[in-house]
Amino acid sequence: MTLIDETSSLPAGGPALEQVRRVGTPLPGPRSAAILARKADAVASGVAHSMPVSVVAAGGGVVVDADGNSLIDLGSGIAVTSVGNAHPKVAAAIAAQAAQFTHTCFMVSPYESYVDVAEALNRLTPGDFAKKSALFNSGAEAVENAVKIARKYTGRQSVVAFDHGYHGRTNLTMALTAKSMPYKSGFGPFAPETYRVPASYPYRDGLTGAEAAERAITMIEKQIGADNLAAVIIEPIQGEGGFIVPADGFLDAVVDWCRANDVVFIADEVQTGFARTGAMFASEIFGIEPDLITTAKGIAAGLPLAGVTGRAEIMDAAHAGGLGGTYGGNPIACAAALAAIDVFENDGLVERAQQIGALLRDRLAGIQAEDPRIGEVRGHGAMIAAEFVDPATGKPDAALTAAVAAACVKAGVIVLTCGTFGNVIRFLPPLSIGDELLTEGLDIVAAALAAA
Ligand SMILES: Cc1ncc(COP(=O)(O)O)c(C=O)c1O
Repeated sequence: MTLIDETSSLPAGGPALEQVRRVGTPLPGPRSAAILARKADAVASGVAHSMPVSVVAAGGGVVVDADGNSLIDLGSGIAVTSVGNAHPKVAAAIAAQAAQFTHTCFMVSPYESYVDVAEALNRLTPGDFAKKSALFNSGAEAVENAVKIARKYTGRQSVVAFDHGYHGRTNLTMALTAKSMPYKSGFGPFAPETYRVPASYPYRDGLTGAEAAERAITMIEKQIGADNLAAVIIEPIQGEGGFIVPADGFLDAVVDWCRANDVVFIADEVQTGFARTGAMFASEIFGIEPDLITTAKGIAAGLPLAGVTGRAEIMDAAHAGGLGGTYGGNPIACAAALAAIDVFENDGLVERAQQIGALLRDRLAGIQAEDPRIGEVRGHGAMIAAEFVDPATGKPDAALTAAVAAACVKAGVIVLTCGTFGNVIRFLPPLSIGDELLTEGLDIVAAALAAA
């Protein structure tokens, strides 16, 4: 039973939603608190939440809760609603498809929108070579399938991932993910034949890209051996690990080594893809052409959809029936993706991500200039983070980070933390947010830091 009976009085989501921050109750307000109490009773404790609200509408740059509080959204549901929540084109496409048919299973009776999404992915992803795609439901599922495809293509088993990497919560992707708490602790044993090598984290390791690549490649050659290696998987900018931008030259050196050794290079662009970094895909920023790219999150504006796209000869290595899943490439998710891709391409969202990035970066750099507790501001486009440290030692300051985030939450700003050391606040606003709201959100972050 819902606590809100007068559903007609709920605000409609989408860009028409009033673009203001409004916090009229302590968070959570009474209606949200009642729903969260039911959550505590009904939903497994492992499914945690960071914002103490129950959402009724969202759009533009705000999220509205059951008590009428309107929160500034600097998280996009973890980099998903890049085109904006409840975007009218996406909402219309979903409604039209839902009225047509909701599911047939593409492996049983195919439909055109899946093919359209595959064609769009083949066209939009970097690399001027013949490509093919397959669709799945989540980022983790895309990563699992990219590894399956690479193993089948190479006939080898080992997979290399990197320090600070995050690839999901399924068994194989937990194995590829670096951080134990909260993602892995107690959930083993993990999938075999997965190895981890050091990444490039210029702020902390002080290495050039070439040096960091040599360190990683030496470890791969000595501890695994190229002959055993099916794939190397890396996020071009590491997301959950702390928005770590590798030093110039790192990624291309790893790609070159993979190519010379017939190892499949997989770019996990689940978080960085679809205009987020001010390029359609972050691989473009580093001038690399991955053999396979995994996508999800921003692709379908919140509907569960993911893809693996890459060289046709690699993608075709799996035998007929070897790839798929009941829901993969669901028609409603495909309709949402086609509408979202239309918005990305035709409403200038790559450029908008660059503008948002400039605003975020300038403001955070200004705060950093006055406050050495911000050790580094980094990222690309609308994927920017601040790393908080103890200025005396340079050590990560997770307590300060948590205090700043908590103050933002209280003031009605949705911010997300991340980082191997829990000392990074990441900014992932929807690309539909206005400058005024974004600036107000950053004012609150600045005030929270000053008060912490
Ligand atoms: C780079 C990366 N890969 C994979 C995943 C897993 O995606 P999902 O949560 O859709 O399974 C994520 C999620 O945050 C991610 O950021």
